[in-house]
Amino acid sequence: LFAGPCDFVKGVVALGGLPPADRPEVCFAGRSNVGKSSLINALTGRKGLARASNTPGRTQELNFFDLGGRLWMVDLPGYGFAEAPKAKVAAWQALLKDYLAGRPTLRRAFVLVDGRHGLKPPDLEIMALLDGAAVAYQVVLTKADKPRGGAIVATAEGVRAGLAKRPAAHPHIHLTSSETGHGLPELRAEIAALAG
Ligand code: GTP
Ligand code: MG
Repeated sequence: LFAGPCDFVKGVVALGGLPPADRPEVCFAGRSNVGKSSLINALTGRKGLARASNTPGRTQELNFFDLGGRLWMVDLPGYGFAEAPKAKVAAWQALLKDYLAGRPTLRRAFVLVDGRHGLKPPDLEIMALLDGAAVAYQVVLTKADKPRGGAIVATAEGVRAGLAKRPAAHPHIHLTSSETGHGLPELRAEIAALAG
């Protein structure tokens, strides 16, 4: 799947603008700055495909990427703190929630969590929403190149304990680094399997 073409198709700012729900879809959710856009670039091997930046709130639309006509991959705006006007942030957070709870072809939501920080209240809020909508989701710990001295193992343990209490959570946690490529082949394989 990832050896073939991958194209940016559209940025969606309202539910009415969603592309047809005509194929399996996966999305990348997570707090602002956790590394959603960077992960999409790393997975596809295309540096500038999704726009990444050190400024929280970089991604402000639901960005749809077409993988060979077989799968939609969706880069979502972050939740939590964002450097953008309040009204704008409120609008995209509302859209994000409507999308996550109401997209019939959404096969899996990858919930990205910073490998240095673990689960935060906004992550739990999103997981509760996904549980309520019976959307399967899976945690991806990002920036695995950053924590020192086994800190990421402790983070993973904390996340595992948090997930054990949730109905729709996939128990396996991916450790990734978009810098070193750690964990990317496994994640690509997982996504390819969802494309059917
Ligand atoms: P928003 O669109 O604002 O919600 O952020 P995002 O989750 O898309 O994060 P983005 O991919 O823009 O990355 C945020 C910052 O983290 C950038 O400065 C990236 O270079 C950095 N970053 C992302 N992934 C990694 C990683 O695996 N390792 C390291 N060291 N830095 C990373
Ligand atoms: Mg982004």
